[in-house]
Amino acid sequence: MAFPPSFIDELIARNPIEDVVGQYVNLKRSGANMFGLCPFHGEKTASFSVAPDKGIYYCFGCHKGGGAVNFMMEVEGLSYPDAVRALAKRAGMQVPEDEQYQSRYRQQERLWALMKEAARFFHQKLYEPCGAQGLAYAQKRGLSKGILTHFGVGYAPDSWNSLVDAMRKKGYTDQELQDADLVGQKNGRIYDRFRNRLMFPIIDVRGNVIGFGGRVLDDSKPKYLNTSETLIFNKRKNLFGLNYAKKSKLGYIILVEGNLDVITLHQYGFDCAVASLGTSLTEEHAVLLSRYTEQVVLTYDSDEAGQKAAQRAIPMLEKVGLQVKVLQMRDAKDPDEFLHKFGADKFKLLLEDSSNRVEYQLRAIAGKYNLKIDDERIRFIQEAAELISTLGSAVQREIYGHRVADAGKISFEAMNTEIGRAYKRRLAREKKRQEKIDLAPAKARQPEGRSIRYDNLKSAMAEEGVITLAMKDPSLLDLAGDLTGEKFSVPLLGKVYDQMRFRHRQGLEVSLAVLTELTAEEMSHITGICQKQSGAVNEKAFRDCLATLRGVTQAKNISSDDDLLAFRNKLKESKGTRQ
Ligand code: GTP
Ligand code: MN
Repeated sequence: MAFPPSFIDELIARNPIEDVVGQYVNLKRSGANMFGLCPFHGEKTASFSVAPDKGIYYCFGCHKGGGAVNFMMEVEGLSYPDAVRALAKRAGMQVPEDEQYQSRYRQQERLWALMKEAARFFHQKLYEPCGAQGLAYAQKRGLSKGILTHFGVGYAPDSWNSLVDAMRKKGYTDQELQDADLVGQKNGRIYDRFRNRLMFPIIDVRGNVIGFGGRVLDDSKPKYLNTSETLIFNKRKNLFGLNYAKKSKLGYIILVEGNLDVITLHQYGFDCAVASLGTSLTEEHAVLLSRYTEQVVLTYDSDEAGQKAAQRAIPMLEKVGLQVKVLQMRDAKDPDEFLHKFGADKFKLLLEDSSNRVEYQLRAIAGKYNLKIDDERIRFIQEAAELISTLGSAVQREIYGHRVADAGKISFEAMNTEIGRAYKRRLAREKKRQEKIDLAPAKARQPEGRSIRYDNLKSAMAEEGVITLAMKDPSLLDLAGDLTGEKFSVPLLGKVYDQMRFRHRQGLEVSLAVLTELTAEEMSHITGICQKQSGAVNEKAFRDCLATLRGVTQAKNISSDDDLLAFRNKLKESKGTRQ
């Protein structure tokens, strides 16, 4: 399943890491390395580094790292072979294709084409006699002709086979229709899955139609039928409307719940609205958003479920460095209803009025208590103090402290004392946690990712040493004799060692950038340990690691009772012969 190693070498050589990364990140040189803002975790200070001489990138913030191929995989969400293909295309190289990869890639391209055809089909139907009810519904919801075209909104006819027939005529197979999740199957026959529904094509940031959301035209259930996971569609990683919102000049992104909210907002000039695809916000969504904006205005429905979802989304968005504001709807349940009732200017006022998340959370806390009852007022003040104590800026603490003191009818001094106490409590909690970590140094040296474990720490450290030293000077591998990765206690490190050894023996390049068959997490881990490598690169250091590794292996060999017995006998024998 692999590409020829020599091809990968050339691919890496012709795609300098700084050029590949430079297409996505603004890099500034500092000494031998270059730095920029990490495209994977949203940040304000540059902790993302590129080492042109090593052909790698590494983020000191989120610990992602690897070579040019890994970068393409991560940033574009590509599989390994597709990332290789993208780089080959970039460098104008011919790819030696493997049957399996080729067919998978072709399959993807066919699905993209099929989904586009289907979107075109649904959109046409909207204006045919059979689509009259669909069009009438869209009009009833206040959607303009222009916006229907802009979003490619369509209508799935009330029929069991109209899409199936049309797509078969275009040359798509039943299997492909199934792979795209456009059909259901019964008794060996396929039928249109979407019937009598208003169809919203879901388009990814590269402009491909990857799925559909289909809404009923009345109050029947289920309200929406959505494409489930396919080879080209993953709802956890895509946002409805982002294909347009990413180009918005407004400078922020409005995150809403419904597809119709997105479309109506765009119709009213707020071309920065997106919605998660009928799922709650995921970490992947947050990272995706942080690639296109610095500020998100949460505009969830005004009902309890919507407000709960907002509370949950706030920390997720802040974690990736986004500034979060919360817009609260008045006299309407969602933006769609609000805009039709009150218009764009009033919505603009709401936007300007939208509070930052602290104000929003303070209001939510206040809402839980009846401030007329002393007991509840005290709990309100304590909970608010807890929140305020987490704020990094003294100015913010003072402003919100005053506000809560007023609302709680206590002096600012008393409030300040409460905030100070909450702060100390948190500090103590954190200190305790840190102490626990310090007391368990072995644990601290464990890899961050959960799927990579170091069971034998001593051996693992030596294995890391062998790899990091040999990455810097591959000729050291000659000293390792017949050592193979099987002897390593950490399978991942053994696998990497074997690849290095193989390449060195073949006279090929040995570097991080040419490693293959590793997951993103594995690659980041390896890049991370190579990045940390300090200290001398010399034979002595390498031999020390080898000795430790061998020592551990020997010790392991005599660990069971039987082995121990055999070992003792052997010792006796050797003593005997010496006498
Ligand atoms: P309206 O009720 O017409 O305003 O539709 P809406 O698009 O604003 O949807 P709503 O706010 O009710 O729901 C938010 C999102 O959740 C929708 O856009 C869908 O993506 C998703 N959703 C809603 N109902 C269902 C359902 O019954 N099934 C599934 N799978 N998803 C749903
Ligand atoms: Mn709605």
